[in-house]
Amino acid sequence: MKTRLELLSLLADGRFHSGEALGTRLGVSRTAVWKQIQALQKLGIDCHSVSGKGYRLARPLELHDREAVLSAMDDAGRELLATLELHPEIDSTNRHLMQQLSQGLEPGHACLVERQLAGRGRRGRSWESPFARNIYLSFYWRFEMSPSLLSGLGLALGVGVIRALRRLDVFDAGLKWPNDILWQGRKLAGILLEMSGEAAGPYHVVAGVGMNVNMDGYDHDIDQPWIDLHGIAPEPLSRNRVAGVLLSELLQVASEFQQRGLAPFFDEWSAADACAGREVLIHLAQRRIPGRAAGVDSDGAILVETDAGLCRFHSGEVSLRLQG
Ligand code: BTN
Repeated sequence: MKTRLELLSLLADGRFHSGEALGTRLGVSRTAVWKQIQALQKLGIDCHSVSGKGYRLARPLELHDREAVLSAMDDAGRELLATLELHPEIDSTNRHLMQQLSQGLEPGHACLVERQLAGRGRRGRSWESPFARNIYLSFYWRFEMSPSLLSGLGLALGVGVIRALRRLDVFDAGLKWPNDILWQGRKLAGILLEMSGEAAGPYHVVAGVGMNVNMDGYDHDIDQPWIDLHGIAPEPLSRNRVAGVLLSELLQVASEFQQRGLAPFFDEWSAADACAGREVLIHLAQRRIPGRAAGVDSDGAILVETDAGLCRFHSGEVSLRLQG
């Protein structure tokens, strides 16, 4: 893996590099370089060779770089960051942090990876996580509050993602309850919260965010309309900058949520609500309940005008589909 990553960093500029030059830099034979190139292709990285010129990536790659991520964070975000783990690949950043809970993580412990082998989505779905294209980020936080107040955390973190997008000059993203980030009805990012704790608290929460950055040319298997930042940002964005800005905003949201709950985020969430006033279908176990979305209440439950009157639903029990 180490040689493969070093090879990738040499090829990341998107220029041609001869097998001989690569072998010399890595201290391996040309045959070993060729084998590593094949391994890269198996990772879904488009790398080709032209005789007489050498190897080249179909498009330049930006690998994660600690300094670049940290320098994109603001002072307040950096102060809240306890640890930043960077890995080339892992099964799931959420699972990785959840596994470490018993060792006593510090709030603000984050993990960022190039690819996930078993990325997790909400409601048991998987999250496609191709190498070095998107953001796969999780962090740990500890909350001393009742579970009913904690239910608004996903919404508050959605506001954090919207704030990060604004800092990256992406202004027209919206939120689909409980915490999908959409752009013109297409999914740009998603949040997965996993928690553990005793009824009396404290609650240990791992918050994971996946954000599509550049899926250009990637042969995907995603079963819903989606978009990436590359398709909507006014300028090409550095993946490290996106990760740093996102992490910074999310940590600040977690810290403020710990002190004040959902209230400080409520108006911003409502302003970005992509469902308000629209026809929706609530999936509740085997039942389907049609209605019109009417915003959220102060603890983050969605309000829906149904034939039976105004109903509220919590995110743990239902999922929501936009109609039309
Ligand atoms: C969703 O279904 O919308 C939530 C997707 C969350 C994906 C992120 S990627 C980083 C973190 N690790 C995971 O395994 N999942 C989350």
